Amino acid sequence: MVPSYLRGDLAPVADEIGARDLPVEGVLPAELTGRYVRNGPNPRPGEDSGHWFAGHGMLHGVRLRDGRAEWYRNRWTRTTRFTDGALSLQPGGGRDLAAVTANTSVIRHSGRTLALVENGLPYEVTPELDTVGACDFGGRLTTAMTAHPKRDPDTGELLFFGYGFAPPYLTYHRLSAGGELVESRQVEVPGPTMMHDFAITRNHVVWLDLPVIFDIEMAKARRGLPYRWDDGYGARLGVMGRADGRVRWFDVDPCYVFHVGNAHEDAAGRVVLDAVRYSPESFRQTWGSMGGSATGVPGPAGTSSLLIGSTLHRWTLDLDGGLAKEEALDDRPVEFPTLNEERTGLPSRYLYTVADDAVVKYDARTGASTVRPTGGTTGEAVFVPAADARAEDDGWLMSIVTAADASALLVLDAGTLEPVATVRLPRRVPAGFHGGWFADA
Ligand SMILES: [Fe+2]
Repeated sequence: MVPSYLRGDLAPVADEIGARDLPVEGVLPAELTGRYVRNGPNPRPGEDSGHWFAGHGMLHGVRLRDGRAEWYRNRWTRTTRFTDGALSLQPGGGRDLAAVTANTSVIRHSGRTLALVENGLPYEVTPELDTVGACDFGGRLTTAMTAHPKRDPDTGELLFFGYGFAPPYLTYHRLSAGGELVESRQVEVPGPTMMHDFAITRNHVVWLDLPVIFDIEMAKARRGLPYRWDDGYGARLGVMGRADGRVRWFDVDPCYVFHVGNAHEDAAGRVVLDAVRYSPESFRQTWGSMGGSATGVPGPAGTSSLLIGSTLHRWTLDLDGGLAKEEALDDRPVEFPTLNEERTGLPSRYLYTVADDAVVKYDARTGASTVRPTGGTTGEAVFVPAADARAEDDGWLMSIVTAADASALLVLDAGTLEPVATVRLPRRVPAGFHGGWFADA
């Protein structure tokens, strides 16, 4: 039986191709001139990576210019793990931070395009998606780098962290707008948790110290990813002052969070965090279906859906009283929250998420949600602001949608969720993780 992470919408593609002058239905706005790039795991033919998260990273790019779709191409990122021909089973942290898969997200900062994975160094790629090499910011980065850094919209700084399965378990980093690593600060946590994302506000960083931990015995077995749920670990959110590094911890109901939507400070100075929450049971089911295991035994091939009970949730953290309030914002399973990144860390009205076959937009002001079916498996919807934006949701959403073994880049009006254009891609793009829009300078 082919494992769940190697078949259906997750099935890898076998090669690298390119195509020019892609068919477009609808009208691509001329100002969408740049590149959409999406990252995801793509084991080579014959490889069994043991877990969806462990396949070699492959970038898929679509070049748009002046209303046309000029090209599509896909490229594996040539990490040392890729070029050594090794399977991608283990975290790199602590040994060789360049021996990773770089399969999770892609960003651009101070002119560099970086493919990211949370257990190692970023890999720089060219605008044409060819690998330049591992990036440690001039030797200053000595930990892994999360795939979910946050750009402060006021300062242009890139805030991020690295976690490791040996001490230091958690390190906070700050990259200047010019791309210089100017701060690295160790943060005390009880153990090696799988910390996939974090949040920022104007004055704080929010840590997710949750009970999915690295397991040395699973690592020795060299199968799947060596992380498991641990009831004994507890669950905490931490609020760290960006200026002084002081962390205040808040116990919360045990849960897991892969992805943060946004955080901000409210009028009373409380820190409000919106994120997609998994209950212990929904985490175990999801992790098992992706090829991992809650028990140390590789999970059975199950559904390939990531969306098993993951729902939008809000934590309100009262720094004075030391109390955390929790509330569910919806009961619809969603994932991959995005927003207008000009609002990162600030009060924001809209979050965009995806359900299995739809884009779902949340309005924090009214509490309403809008659902736009896409007709296929729907990837993360990247928000692209309009040049003349007057409202937070003036812009577009870009998502790769796959149905009947064919993929398209769908462009929606972010305000109405009405389709604007569909770019037909020359091949099926496996369901993956995160993308970005890199406008021409
Ligand atoms: Fe992610």
